[in-house]
Amino acid sequence: MLTRLVYFSEAPPGLGRDQVDAILRLSRERNPGREITGGLAWDGRYFVQALEGHRMTLTDLVLRIAADRRNRNLVIVSMREVPVRRFPIWSMADLSGHGVFTGGGDLRPYALDARGIEAHLEEALRAAAASGAPTRAGQGLPLVL
Ligand SMILES: Cc1cc2nc3c(=O)[nH]c(=O)nc-3n(C[C@H](O)[C@H](O)[C@H](O)COP(=O)(O)O)c2cc1C
Repeated sequence: MLTRLVYFSEAPPGLGRDQVDAILRLSRERNPGREITGGLAWDGRYFVQALEGHRMTLTDLVLRIAADRRNRNLVIVSMREVPVRRFPIWSMADLSGHGVFTGGGDLRPYALDARGIEAHLEEALRAAAASGAPTRAGQGLPLVL
């Protein structure tokens, strides 16, 4: 069952762009083999990530991410079955620097409901796609599992 999971977490103080790049590289290497797609946004303080794939694979991955010292206090915002992928061609789109994720401190994830957080991701995806920024790295993925 194709499922989309959205969470936010806190980046530890001192975490920098190079570490986010390393997370993106690793995700783009590993996600295609697990039929996972998604987008990762970082505003300097928080991560917000959307992950799409099979619910078992997603559960396994989000538990590993929650234990990763490059973030903490992970909060699952939503997890639901979806008919199609929103990130079909992105093994992990980089949404940082777009929409509310510009580092201006405008993102307040604890004060937002799932709809509000998903709207921020959607806005950032549109802006990133319009600028041609996200990496295309997910060829051959099925649209529905
Ligand atoms: C914010 C954040 C997002 C991550 N996203 C992914 C991802 O999409 N796919 C992935 O394989 N690992 C991701 N990771 C890395 C995992 O936490 C983990 O380090 C990686 O999957 C390797 O796990 P392993 O050492 O148990 O094999 C992410 C880590 C962080 C901190």
